[in-house]
Amino acid sequence: MKYKGIIFDLDGVICSTDEYHYLAWKALADRLGIPFDRERNNLLRGVSRMASLEIILEKSDKTYTEEEKAAFAEEKNTRYRELLGRMSPADLSDDVKTTLEALRKTDLKLAIGSSSKNTPFILERIGLRDFFDAVADGNCITHSKPHPEVFLKAAGMIGLCPQDCLVVEDAHAGVEAAKAGGFDCAAMGDARDDERADRHLEKFSDLLKI
Ligand code: BG6
Ligand code: MG
Repeated sequence: MKYKGIIFDLDGVICSTDEYHYLAWKALADRLGIPFDRERNNLLRGVSRMASLEIILEKSDKTYTEEEKAAFAEEKNTRYRELLGRMSPADLSDDVKTTLEALRKTDLKLAIGSSSKNTPFILERIGLRDFFDAVADGNCITHSKPHPEVFLKAAGMIGLCPQDCLVVEDAHAGVEAAKAGGFDCAAMGDARDDERADRHLEKFSDLLKI
């Protein structure tokens, strides 16, 4: 591998918490009578909680105050955290687990670059709290993806420049963020066929072939 470090997105890359985001937003959208489906949910990948809410509300014919929006985001997050609270290390797939273990045995620096403010909670639940060399997340950035801030922060934390890092992403917004920051990007999941990506992963363990 020509890289010195890998920066992983979290939701939809390391674990399937993207599904929980969907379920929690879907419950809110249904309660408010707003059309929302899995295809529309793909637009929320990588973007912040409030930006996600704005995308959902685009399909509403009502306008809401900032206070109402804050309450909706809180309602979604409470439901989302209930789902996260049920997670355990068993929720890490074998494919991800064995790949991370193999990468940990190399000289590569491994970091998280996620827009989520729930990153510490998720890492704790799945048993990876102390696994990564650095964690940059929604708690330490002002701009979420597609802005490159979170990846630049992660690279800085592991002492590497973007050219030496590979970003792994499942979101189009994340691929855009990686490229904007000067990183190579391996795309998987929903973003797998994104033409801006440098690598296209069928599954997480394909990283070991790079
Ligand atoms: C990203 C998800 O990782 O985190 C987005 O892909 C989500 O869907 C964003 O909106 C923010 O997450 P949280 O946990 O801070 O609401
Ligand atoms: Mg993701």
